[in-house]
Amino acid sequence: MRIVTKGYILGACLLVFFLVTAAYAATYGAKKRRPKPHEYGAVVINNFSAKNRMRPVVFPHWIHRAKHTCRLCHVDIGFAMRAGGTEITEDDNKAGLYCGACHNGTVAFAPKETSAKGETVENCDRCHSYRKEGIPFKNDFYEFKKGMPQGRFGNGIDWLKAEDEGRVKLVDYLEGVSIRRQKLKNPEDIEISAKETGMPDIIFSHRKHAIWNGCELCHPEIFGVNRGEVKYTMQDIFDGKFCGACHDIVAFPNSDCQGCHTKPVF
Ligand code: HEC
Ligand code: HEC
Ligand code: HEC
Ligand code: HEC
Ligand code: HEC
Ligand code: HEC
Repeated sequence: MRIVTKGYILGACLLVFFLVTAAYAATYGAKKRRPKPHEYGAVVINNFSAKNRMRPVVFPHWIHRAKHTCRLCHVDIGFAMRAGGTEITEDDNKAGLYCGACHNGTVAFAPKETSAKGETVENCDRCHSYRKEGIPFKNDFYEFKKGMPQGRFGNGIDWLKAEDEGRVKLVDYLEGVSIRRQKLKNPEDIEISAKETGMPDIIFSHRKHAIWNGCELCHPEIFGVNRGEVKYTMQDIFDGKFCGACHDIVAFPNSDCQGCHTKPVF
């Protein structure tokens, strides 16, 4: 009996070890290094730039998620949840779509602006910035981070706490783009079994997720609305599916096991 139990625990430990290794291999790889806090969540977009002799675009999530909800961009404006998936063009932006929904000189800087002295200022570099040194960005990540509650992983910022304490105020509505609608009620927190002896279960908070993601970022594409409708494992999450559609890319990474496996075992 004891031996059987020990064997099982050993098996579980080995599995956990395997998964941790797999996670590191998948995230950082032998060649890939762990991203620096300011790089975490940066997306390189290069469907058309290099072909047209422009530097690829670097889209930083940190500055954007500090101001707007994920839902506003990924549902109302319609950005894909995959690097390059939207196939944005400069003409789209000029027509007020995608980046141009905000980067039009009102919500954020436009590609070309007129300075106080009446000179034309080109802001191309601030978006088309891939691997270029010395661009005069207006927003500095490490300055911003100083005023934020610290997190251990990813951007090194505890984004939930930052929102909770009112240090970031998330805009969820863009005039001319969003439609006013009634908020749906958040379902109660749910417990998801880790289905593994010794591995703490997961407590999933709808409230905490809905602040950023609304409902539509997860339902019905990633998760069905009936509990247990979709079956998935930790490996699927490491592969970027289900919880991994956001965690490890923009939300805190999968290497933070305790970020999700929070329920005390005993
Ligand atoms: C707010 C961000 C932003 C600014 C500012 C910006 N661009 Fe772009 N631009 C993009 C994005 C995003 C793409 C799509 C990138 C891709 O897929 O390669 C793009 C694509 C392009 C392309 C590729 C061909 C095409 O027609 O789509 C060219 C050329 C281009 N931009 C020129 C410029 C020039 C010149 C400026 C400055 C006057 C500028 N951009 C300013 C975001 C920006
Ligand atoms: C200001 C708009 C904006 C906000 C806010 C925003 N995103 Fe994004 N997100 C984008 C854009 C743009 C892309 C790149 C799409 C493309 O290349 O076609 C992207 C891509 C992604 C990707 C795929 C990245 C990859 O490497 O494949 C994920 C995952 C993602 N976002 C999750 C989130 C989450 C979670 C939040 C909220 C915490 C969020 N986003 C907030 C605009 C935004
Ligand atoms: C929902 C509105 C919104 C959308 C959509 C949006 N941005 Fe922004 N972006 C902002 C705001 C607001 C800022 C901060 C502006 C400031 O500090 O002047 C910003 C800042 C930036 C910065 C930092 C520049 C600096 O000098 O610090 C970059 C780079 C950038 N955006 C690129 C993009 C690209 C590329 C896209 C499209 C793929 C995009 N943004 C889409 C609102 C948006
Ligand atoms: C970050 C992703 C995410 C967001 C955002 C989200 N949900 Fe869910 N939802 C889930 C997951 C995961 C489950 C559990 C699915 C399972 O067990 O198969 C779930 C389950 C549900 C269920 C079934 C609950 C039960 O106990 O049977 C309902 C109803 C639901 N969600 C409604 C909503 C509504 C309404 C919103 C917006 C206020 C929302 N969800 C936002 C991920 C999300
Ligand atoms: C649509 C994107 C998305 C999906 C899918 C998603 N999350 Fe999250 N999650 C977030 C964001 C954004 C936060 C805020 C913190 C951050 O960005 O690091 C968060 C925070 C959390 C937190 C911290 C909440 C707390 O109580 O402190 C937990 C735990 C969590 N997610 C678990 C999960 C689990 C488990 C799943 C899958 C069942 C999941 N998430 C799916 C985007 C997502
Ligand atoms: C973003 C949230 C999240 C993070 C971070 C996370 N897990 Fe999980 N994990 C889950 C969910 C949800 C399940 C339940 C899947 C299911 O329904 O079977 C799970 C299940 C598991 C299981 C059960 C067996 C299996 O394969 O499904 C193990 C073991 C596990 N996780 C280990 C880990 C380890 C080790 C880490 C850190 C390297 C980790 N997890 C990080 C959400 C997470």
